[in-house]
Amino acid sequence: MSTGSGNVVKQVSLPAVDARRYGRVAVLMGGTSAEREVSLQTGSAVCAALQRSGIDARTVDAVTGFLPELSRSGYDRVFIALHGRGGEDGTVQGALATLGMPFTGSGVLGSALAMDKVRSKWIWQCHGLPTPASVEVTGSADLARVLPELGLPVMVKPVHEGSSCGASRVIDAAGLDAAWRKARALDERVLVEQWINGAEYTVAILGERVLPIIKLETPNEFYDYEAKYLAETTRYLCPCGLSAESEHELGQLALRAFQLVGASGWGRVDLMLDDHGRPSLLEVNTVPGMTSHSLVPMAARHAGISFEELVLQILDTSLPAASADGPREVARA
Ligand SMILES: Nc1ncnc2c1ncn2[C@@H]1O[C@H](COP(=O)(O)OP(=O)(O)OP(=O)(O)O)[C@@H](O)[C@H]1O
Ligand SMILES: [Mg+2]
Repeated sequence: MSTGSGNVVKQVSLPAVDARRYGRVAVLMGGTSAEREVSLQTGSAVCAALQRSGIDARTVDAVTGFLPELSRSGYDRVFIALHGRGGEDGTVQGALATLGMPFTGSGVLGSALAMDKVRSKWIWQCHGLPTPASVEVTGSADLARVLPELGLPVMVKPVHEGSSCGASRVIDAAGLDAAWRKARALDERVLVEQWINGAEYTVAILGERVLPIIKLETPNEFYDYEAKYLAETTRYLCPCGLSAESEHELGQLALRAFQLVGASGWGRVDLMLDDHGRPSLLEVNTVPGMTSHSLVPMAARHAGISFEELVLQILDTSLPAASADGPREVARA
């Protein structure tokens, strides 16, 4: 995996940590969504990093019976490393809030809204933020609206999926039905968007901070599952090649989009710039991948933040606001 040639990556070092302030940490991972495998990798990487910082952390697979196990086992907080439905969508957040168990990242509302690509777009459109024109398809009557309203090509994707699961680019009318059926196999709600011709970027958010933007380049039709997890040909450019002013503007747009859907703590906003340089928001991820080669850790590294420090800053989002803002530079116990 390339991070672009000639990049200067700042020196990073292990943070000094007072592990006692966190108590016992459950890293919740796995679950039952289509992104289970990626989540297992995220959770293992996060747990190992917490342990390297001296924190009492264990992984917990979010399968049947995990909630009673969490309350029984005396955990003090939860690092949510679940991707997709049943973990990133507000359901687990609601259950943990009901148990009174602090957790990382977005709350119920932000998690649920960010998971719903259609409702995220409504909110952005209400506030004048740019996002591709679209049609939500719940039946064949909606499908008939797609070509007159959007033209071709279009992008067809499930409303609640991640990792590009069930997504297809459609270039002719004949392909639309098959693409809809493919997306529908994963989700009864399907989103069809106007195809954006241009460059793709992703913006990592940490608290209220925008991390260096990454440009994604793939020879595939789009940044699909293969390009995300398997291909050697995907290029990750950081610095992203935009002028400092354009990068700042794009970062502020992403931060606003993130906050408007009610997301908080940390996450990642995916967007594109069309051939005229006009931005278009695709989606917000409230629990993006956190393996050692994922995008948020890559952006953090370019900001001089090690993986261990990043994981700790995310864990801090589970602390009460005042103590999360307090100094972490306390001598190890
Ligand atoms: N309207 C569009 N025009 C062009 N390409 C698009 C469009 N929408 C999505 N894509 C491509 O499809 C990919 C997946 O789309 P998107 O980010 O919306 O879905 P996702 O599966 O939730 O992704 P993630 O893995 O980031 O959660 C994008 O990274 C981009 O390459
Ligand atoms: Mg995406």
